[in-house]
Amino acid sequence: MSRRRRLYEGKAKVLYEGPEPGTLVQHFKDDATAGNGEKHEVIDGKGVLNNRISEFIFTHLNELGIPTHFIKRMNMREQLIREVEIIPLEVVVRNVAAGSICKRLGVESGTRLPRSIIEFYYKDDKLNDPIVAEEHITAFGWANPQELDDIMSMAVRINDFLCGLFMSAGIQLIDFKIEFGRLYEEDTMRIVLADEISPDSCRLWDIKTQNKLDKDRFRQDLGGLVDAYREVAQRLGILSEAD
Ligand code: C5P
Repeated sequence: MSRRRRLYEGKAKVLYEGPEPGTLVQHFKDDATAGNGEKHEVIDGKGVLNNRISEFIFTHLNELGIPTHFIKRMNMREQLIREVEIIPLEVVVRNVAAGSICKRLGVESGTRLPRSIIEFYYKDDKLNDPIVAEEHITAFGWANPQELDDIMSMAVRINDFLCGLFMSAGIQLIDFKIEFGRLYEEDTMRIVLADEISPDSCRLWDIKTQNKLDKDRFRQDLGGLVDAYREVAQRLGILSEAD
């Protein structure tokens, strides 16, 4: 394990001091939590798969000109990232109704939404990450209007890219959660994609069978989480059938 200084420990990841100033090491744990930590399990192999899948997606996004914190994968569980100031918002993009929007608005799970919807949740465990409007975000200064504009246009581009990527793997992207940060370079600042994109933070349904290939397998006690994540990695061409 690492002898680096630990800066932050979250539910599924740890951040360590990086080798150079302005860098961090993001470590993917095997821990799975749901209901804001009420349900917790260690699922052998999950962190390794999320590290690989997130690396694959962030590398493509960087190539497409969508700025991210990702620099490179270092080993099975760790990636080198740029240090950013995290904006305290969870940005959720939905294409099909599932999860909390069904409870909140009485929409049937699986209903295709008339258009993609972007939602914001304020990151605060004590408050259970409440949904908030743009008004709250700018009034409380969590992000300014220009930053919010940048976040929304990046979220739309990321959704377009991910829908196509998963579609080509026979997977429907139902929804996903992303986070952004401020990257300070010399005397400039820009908003970049941070955190991770993996089956922990997306809903992914097999197009043919409607099987869930994401963290709902854990939330709903369906079992087979690691097999589902491995299936996603294999279909994206990250792992071979033999892995
Ligand atoms: O629970 P809800 O339907 O709002 O989740 C929407 C999407 O955001 C899902 O893909 C879920 O996995 C993701 N999410 C997340 N982390 C959270 C809340 C939701 O990755 N804290």
